[in-house]
Amino acid sequence: MRFGFIGAGKVGVSLGKYLVNGGCEVVGYYSKSDASAKAAADFTKTKAFPELEELVTACDAVVFTVPDKEIVPVYEKVKAYITKPTCFIHCSGLETSDVFYDRFSYHSYGYSIHPLLAVHSKYESYRELSKAVFTMEGDIEHREALRELFLKMGNPVILIDKEQKAKYHAACVFGSNLMLGLLEEALMLLEECGFQRAEAMQALTPLAIGNLVHGLTDGTMESLTGPVERADEQTIALHETVLNKEQRNIYNALSKTLLTLAKKKHPNREYGNVEKEIEKEREEA
Ligand SMILES: NC(=O)c1ccc[n+]([C@@H]2O[C@H](COP(=O)([O-])OP(=O)(O)OC[C@H]3O[C@@H](n4cnc5c(N)ncnc54)[C@H](OP(=O)(O)O)[C@@H]3O)[C@@H](O)[C@H]2O)c1
Repeated sequence: MRFGFIGAGKVGVSLGKYLVNGGCEVVGYYSKSDASAKAAADFTKTKAFPELEELVTACDAVVFTVPDKEIVPVYEKVKAYITKPTCFIHCSGLETSDVFYDRFSYHSYGYSIHPLLAVHSKYESYRELSKAVFTMEGDIEHREALRELFLKMGNPVILIDKEQKAKYHAACVFGSNLMLGLLEEALMLLEECGFQRAEAMQALTPLAIGNLVHGLTDGTMESLTGPVERADEQTIALHETVLNKEQRNIYNALSKTLLTLAKKKHPNREYGNVEKEIEKEREEA
């Protein structure tokens, strides 16, 4: 399969480089700006295509690594140049292969292939792709070949039902972006206590990373500590007195999730007072 990338941004460059390093054939890049396409081509030792038609003609798998809202408008342009069966692939966590809505009229196939990774850099993130799990959905014809390609490079590939993609993407946001929101709340509170930001970041590093690593290796229930697990409603009540309304909403909503875990972990422990404390604040909020 010869891959051609449209969109020489973070994912396009990283995935292209990863595929090239994995021995796949990548013909090169077309992008909104010629400069991006050229930089991506140089980095991946492939070719920059100044014309979309040239790229589409040169490959049999077009990878749309443009922003989600650009996938359909770019697909509309690509279709004009289709002269052979082609695989249309995008990397959105949310959109499905249905965005290539009339691909069958072009005897072509559609896929979404999503790396579960925060791809933050055009030139560094490809190194981390080897650790990423990929999810995939789309037409049956080339799905197994595409899956095999990533499996061979050492990536677990999970086939996902396209109906589940919104929920799946919300899960990714909980597990990644929203973690940064929680960290920011912690950092701001520590700053209010007199920490410099750098001190607060240093202080939270072993606490946060330790918990994440335990949670994702031993399990969330097994790793649970803190006032909810200890059924310490007095500590929770004190915390609530120093948080603003929005912080209390977050604190209580997540404490409710922890309470479910705590009850499973300690079926004989009495959690009624903790439950009341959390619910009381929720009702007032
Ligand atoms: N970043 C992540 O962590 C991540 C993770 C998984 C999946 N994804 C998915 O990967 C896709 C790309 O995201 P990204 O983070 O790589 O975005 P990005 O860094 O903003 O790159 C998007 C690229 O698309 C190009 N582009 C925009 N409109 C275009 C158009 N009309 N025609 C041709 N090229 C166009 C831009 O080109 P110029 O540079 O030429 O202006 C830009 O380089 C999205 O579907 C996103 O949901 C992202």
